[in-house]
Amino acid sequence: MHQTIELICGAVWFVLPAYVANMTPVVTGGGRPLNGGKKFVDGRPLFGPGKTVRGFLTGVSAGVLVGVIQALADPLVRPVFPIFFSGRLEIILGSLLISSGAMVGDLSGSFIKRRLGLRRGSPFPVLDQLDFVVGALVFSRALASFDTGVVIVLMVLTPLLHLGTNYVGYKLGFKDRPY
Ligand code: CTP
Ligand code: MG
Repeated sequence: MHQTIELICGAVWFVLPAYVANMTPVVTGGGRPLNGGKKFVDGRPLFGPGKTVRGFLTGVSAGVLVGVIQALADPLVRPVFPIFFSGRLEIILGSLLISSGAMVGDLSGSFIKRRLGLRRGSPFPVLDQLDFVVGALVFSRALASFDTGVVIVLMVLTPLLHLGTNYVGYKLGFKDRPY
């Protein structure tokens, strides 16, 4: 039981830059769409108007800011639960991988939704909740050493946290829908 709690703490701490990167554009996003209004070969938008340049860049920046704070806090947390990066520099570089991976994962999710003809903002359960974590895990794999236990914890926990924060975002007026 004790070990499970340590694993959950380690996994959430590890992926925190991705959570922050994914939430930031809800507040800071808008403006020029990443696909510049261009359409894919199927005549549908590549990502759609919900994926903007500003959202992408501010998301990555916010995630790296979290990484810098995590690097500073590292001596305090490392004795308490597992850390999957070997040192401070790896944590900061890792946060860049995690945040950009999260943004690319989110874009991939949108890409899939547009190919299926789903409108911007239409819910796609599981994909909406996990696309960004999968992207973060794939990208960070280059620098981080984590096992399948971490992946499983994040796949189970993230949808729950995601729904919780979306509901708060909706109540605060940042999101149109409570999911
Ligand atoms: N956002 C942004 N730029 C990004 C990602 C997100 O500006 N690269 C902003 C948009 O305002 C978007 C909001 O964050 O509406 C929430 O993101 P998300 O729920 O992932 O997008 P959806 O609007 O639901 O679009 P999709 O259907 O493509 O998932
Ligand atoms: Mg999405």
